[in-house]
Amino acid sequence: MDSNSRLPIGLFDSGMGGLTVFKALAKRLPGEDLLYLGDTARLPYGTKGRDTIIRYTLSAAQKLVDMGVKMLVIACNTATAAALPALREHFAPLPVLGVVEPGSQAAAEASRNGRILVLATEATINGGAYQQAITRIRPDAVVLTRACNLFVSLAEEGWMNGPLVEGIIRRYLEGLFDAPDNKTANDAALLPDTLVLGCTHYPLLQDALRQVVGPDVHIVDSAATTAEFVARELNTLHLLHPDRATADSDATGKHLGQSHFLTTDHVARFIRTGGLFLGRKMTESEVTLVDL
Ligand code: DGL
Repeated sequence: MDSNSRLPIGLFDSGMGGLTVFKALAKRLPGEDLLYLGDTARLPYGTKGRDTIIRYTLSAAQKLVDMGVKMLVIACNTATAAALPALREHFAPLPVLGVVEPGSQAAAEASRNGRILVLATEATINGGAYQQAITRIRPDAVVLTRACNLFVSLAEEGWMNGPLVEGIIRRYLEGLFDAPDNKTANDAALLPDTLVLGCTHYPLLQDALRQVVGPDVHIVDSAATTAEFVARELNTLHLLHPDRATADSDATGKHLGQSHFLTTDHVARFIRTGGLFLGRKMTESEVTLVDL
């Protein structure tokens, strides 16, 4: 057993999106304490430059490290894509996991025809992290990409369904799923059969996305795969919480560990919007305002 094993897992996102990963972790590792930081004051990261994203991510991660965590989970694709190597170098030997690798792995495994569409923020797409990770795992893959900047605002606003949201999705996906009129089996085979939610905010729009792309496209949400990666890594490093390691098999699905949330702006808004992402009511005592 490692002496750090009683510390919480630190999760970081630019805002609320990482709460989708938080939820998956609480389910997969119910015995672990979780400390979440959402840098809501500086959201969005996805439209910012690489150097700014690295600087913001390092300062946010430093906050979690100062508070004491046994592992950092970068529950933000934008921050992972830009800053993972810098974080690993800066905080070594602390284990740092991102969401791009697990999402890429899940997509590469799910796709039958190798045509994979990644939806993410502008910064994630422009940095090429998904394109590289997917083709590393599956060299025959053709990775199509679309930056969907408005999706983050829709999710944080709680607009998840309906004609307006579907209209915006249609606009972003224009041309990608249009089979020619005289569709042949060959044409259909060239359409993407797998769609990666390459931003942790996007799972909230999953139902609306499903309406637009139809029932046959496999939608990959990297939250569950990331939780699996975290569980494996904690086990390998002997960092699972020693008193509650067997909580893994707890059948109730209830999170038995402690959870706490840090935000850099507007606690009331964090509680309101955070509830949408977590699918439960949040209370004021769970959230602390911090300055970075
Ligand atoms: N949740 C972040 C991600 O996964 C993006 C939000 C933002 O633009 O800050 O990429």
